Amino acid sequence: MDAASAAVAPKKPASIEGLLELARPDMAKVDALIRERMQSPVSVIPALAEHLVGGSAKRLRPLLTIAAARVAGAQDDACLKLAAAVEFIHTATLLHDDVVDSSQLRRGKVAAHLIWGAPASVLVGDFLFARAFELMVEAGSMAALEILARASRVIAEGEVLQLTRAHDLNLSQELYLEIIRAKTAELFAAAAEAGAVSAGASPAHCKALRKFGQDLGLAFQLVDDALDYSGESQELGKNPGDDFREGKATLPLLLAISRTGAAEKAFWDRVVGRREQADGDFERARELIRMSGADAATLDLAAEYAIRAKAQLADFAASNSWRPALEDLADFAVSRRM
Ligand code: IPE
Ligand code: IPE
Ligand code: MG
Ligand code: MG
Repeated sequence: MDAASAAVAPKKPASIEGLLELARPDMAKVDALIRERMQSPVSVIPALAEHLVGGSAKRLRPLLTIAAARVAGAQDDACLKLAAAVEFIHTATLLHDDVVDSSQLRRGKVAAHLIWGAPASVLVGDFLFARAFELMVEAGSMAALEILARASRVIAEGEVLQLTRAHDLNLSQELYLEIIRAKTAELFAAAAEAGAVSAGASPAHCKALRKFGQDLGLAFQLVDDALDYSGESQELGKNPGDDFREGKATLPLLLAISRTGAAEKAFWDRVVGRREQADGDFERARELIRMSGADAATLDLAAEYAIRAKAQLADFAASNSWRPALEDLADFAVSRRM
């Protein structure tokens, strides 16, 4: 599938209110676990963790773990520790990622590394990773531990791969998709699969939910990359333009470069290839991306992945209210502004 052949993005912003309502009792327990496990006698750790955990987090990955477990028939609370572990892994990667990307705003707050410094931020990220592994061991499922351990490794591989390909104006769409599959979609896939496994779901159901998470995660990151050019910091809780400033070869940029051709080649070479940027360059890039249809094509590709994700749910009973809630989550990933 390429961007040009993709479907049209949904018009109406999707809501996940139904999912949030269904998951409210579970998420309250997950939240309590997160708060309990971010504690440490080393006071910088809970202070820094509270700064991030108390921000405008969407909690999509633990929601996915819970919804996957429940749609697969889970009656007990075995998925909750895994859901908390998934959010800890995600939060740890954000601490590391903001240092790597020199980002200044996260979850509507000043990035932690600007307050406590990069070393503390990286080390508290390690602490949260370690907490995630303690929770996974307590959850007692060797299969779930394997899924989430592998995801942690794959995310790191994705982040390093992306680092080595920054400023590459010739990055292929295939390699771009490989990067976002690793750095983002793998955790969504693992979050869903671990939930399904903890529910004792059949291998076919575990596989379908894993694929649902993966396609959802691809849609999610495609939209994130579009929003880095078209979003607003008020809604995003982070600054648009971070990818541009870092010279990151994301799909909106790659498509704009190929579509604007010779006329703008010198501009792209300077601002992305050599990262020599001046005032007004981001606004110009944003305009070229919008005018060339590169951001719309990125959103269309995201919509296509959301459709694929929803198709994975065909085998779950429509009467199970978690199924439409998961479908809403796929639509939300595409229509979100936050
Ligand atoms: C941010 O993820 C990192 C990406 C994969 C783009 P979210 O947008 O889910 O971050 P929070 O948890 O809601 O802050
Ligand atoms: C998201 O990376 C993936 C991870 C944090 C592992 P990005 O760098 O694209 O996400 P944001 O824009 O900082 O949230
Ligand atoms: Mg980043
Ligand atoms: Mg990054």
